[in-house]
Amino acid sequence: MTSAVPAAAAERAGWLRAEIERHMHAYYVLDAPTIPDAEYDRLFAELQGLEAAHPALARPDSPTRRVGGAVLDGFASVRHRVPMLSIRTERDTGPEGAAAFDERVRKALGFAPGEPEVEYACELKFDGLAISLRYESGVLAQAATRGDGETGEDVTQNVRTIKAIPLRLAMRDPPAVLEVRGEAYMSHADFERYNARQRAQGQPTLVNPRNGAAGSIRQLDPALCAQRPLSFFVYGIGEVIGLDLPATHSGVIDLLESFGLPVNGERTVTAGAGGLAAYHRAIGERRARLPFDIDGVVYKVNRLDLQEALGYVTREPRFAVAHKFPAQEELTQVEDIFVQVGRTGAITPVARLAPVFVGGVTVTNATLHNEDEVRRKDVWRRDTVVVRRAGDVIPEVLMVSQRGPREPGDWFAMPARCPVCGAEVVREEGEAVARCSGGLYCAAQRKQALLHFAGRRAMDIEGLGERLVDQLVDAEVVRTPADLYRLGLASLAALERMAEKSAQNVLDAIERSRRTTLARFLFALGIRHVGEATAKELARHFGSLEAVMDADEARLTEVSDVGPVVAASIARFFRQPHNREVVEQLRAAGVQWAEAAPARPARGALAGKTVVLTGTLAGMSRETARERLEALGAKVAGSVSKRTDYVVAGAEAGSKLAKAQELGVPVIDEHGLNALLEGTHDQ
Ligand code: IVH
Repeated sequence: MTSAVPAAAAERAGWLRAEIERHMHAYYVLDAPTIPDAEYDRLFAELQGLEAAHPALARPDSPTRRVGGAVLDGFASVRHRVPMLSIRTERDTGPEGAAAFDERVRKALGFAPGEPEVEYACELKFDGLAISLRYESGVLAQAATRGDGETGEDVTQNVRTIKAIPLRLAMRDPPAVLEVRGEAYMSHADFERYNARQRAQGQPTLVNPRNGAAGSIRQLDPALCAQRPLSFFVYGIGEVIGLDLPATHSGVIDLLESFGLPVNGERTVTAGAGGLAAYHRAIGERRARLPFDIDGVVYKVNRLDLQEALGYVTREPRFAVAHKFPAQEELTQVEDIFVQVGRTGAITPVARLAPVFVGGVTVTNATLHNEDEVRRKDVWRRDTVVVRRAGDVIPEVLMVSQRGPREPGDWFAMPARCPVCGAEVVREEGEAVARCSGGLYCAAQRKQALLHFAGRRAMDIEGLGERLVDQLVDAEVVRTPADLYRLGLASLAALERMAEKSAQNVLDAIERSRRTTLARFLFALGIRHVGEATAKELARHFGSLEAVMDADEARLTEVSDVGPVVAASIARFFRQPHNREVVEQLRAAGVQWAEAAPARPARGALAGKTVVLTGTLAGMSRETARERLEALGAKVAGSVSKRTDYVVAGAEAGSKLAKAQELGVPVIDEHGLNALLEGTHDQ
């Protein structure tokens, strides 16, 4: 040995080789990766760096000397007549990476600074499995994986099941041989659909679309592969005999497209470093919205004669480069598993992670979805896991990469009580999601409950939207719906972006909501399973809130539309002392609901009367007025006729008021309406 290699470097290189080999085998041969790509790339880069720094370390059998994995026993080997090369992959490079590549190309071609810009074909870097398709006289004769680049596996039977791949080229005079290369992949939609079906049948699911594609093609049973929905994009050619090729790569791709081969539409032709950088930026922005996974972009010198002139360094073409985007999957440790209470009371297990940079941001929490998923993925505290963050989707734990010590305290158990309010946690039969039964009282559910309470079909408080509710709850000005009725102008106007005028409007809307109907009030409470229709049925059946609150499950099921699940939910809601307290507070705050049972309207105080509402009322919405009138047995009509008993005219009443005056129908104002509703109007 001429140069001495430090013992530490030699030992590290040995360890890296063994580690990389292990992961390579898992990834390429077993299709069951044990670490994310980004982590693998780092190990690989470290070994490359060590071998470069200490040439004496380099060995012919180092994983840095080959492209991919060995041939699986079950498939026949295929020798690629034109090798399937890999391309140089650079990570997290923006405009500088593009400029560096352009610079290298120009230099290698001997282009002087003044000479025109180099034209490039830009493509997506699909994240699937590379496949070579061999068409002989226009018929698909063989499909092979890349393998080590020289020899791959014959996966013809499986590839035939990919519907995007034509079995015969759409051309009149097919060449003797046309080999095309491309990527087999699984779209997001297909991946989700497939997993949903598997889950429903209690079958194993796929970890991610890439694994789905790679794993399917390596299925020894083509029938199993056929069940996996795969797609394909062609991005290049291999051996070609008997076909005149265009002068550019983009021309080749267009030609292949005309033969009926699947190519991707996001490709483009640009010039110079600026063009490359613009493509990189544009695709980076669109990445999250693409219907399939990509892990970067590929730049290729467009002219084939220039490609040839540029040639290869070791086994990588000098004319192409892949620029990767930030990885969407990374490795990290689970520090804790806790639960989060969502706006609908759903209790979600969440992994607190050692901070990790993934998908362009630092992630500290990742969802575990629900209890069943924790079990299926078998995640424990202190395990090392793969985290995925794709686009704006919330980060999730994909799988365990390495188990932690797994002591009893590392096991996750769904809590029996809500960590926020202490109410029972309930998981209904057949449901994956556990929920807090704390309802209106639970702080985590308050915002949602308030929004629901204020909704148009509930208490109808105009202007009390998401932003305002967030502010009110965060500032602890409002805890329960009853607090809304204690709001003053000063505390509202003090909130961010709240002018006095709009604050007053909200207060007016709250004021108007004080008078409502029992059905609306019941609906507004946000009892699980009690929608608008059920609330109406309950109001009709029981007539008063007390009767609903005191009814046991048996009595509740007497109501049409109310089955055992709904009855249990209503009874549980009113069993919680906190919910009863909120109802009491609302009553004390002056909220009133018309309780007369509209089931027998003939008995109502306004039975047989026909009323028409027109114009804007100051004290309540027209909808509420209608319901309250109907609750008293009145019929509310849409147009005025001689049979109309009253026309209630609010502000800016129009043609209906004129019609009433014309027909001599009694017209009352809002004051008169209130008197009518309260039974003090002299009928
Ligand atoms: S070109 C000689 N173009 O990325 C150039 N490769 O190392 C050969 N890939 O595993 C490759 N999208 O399967 C090329 N538009 C694209 C690609 C692409 C994905 C994969 C390819 C290979 C790796 C490149």
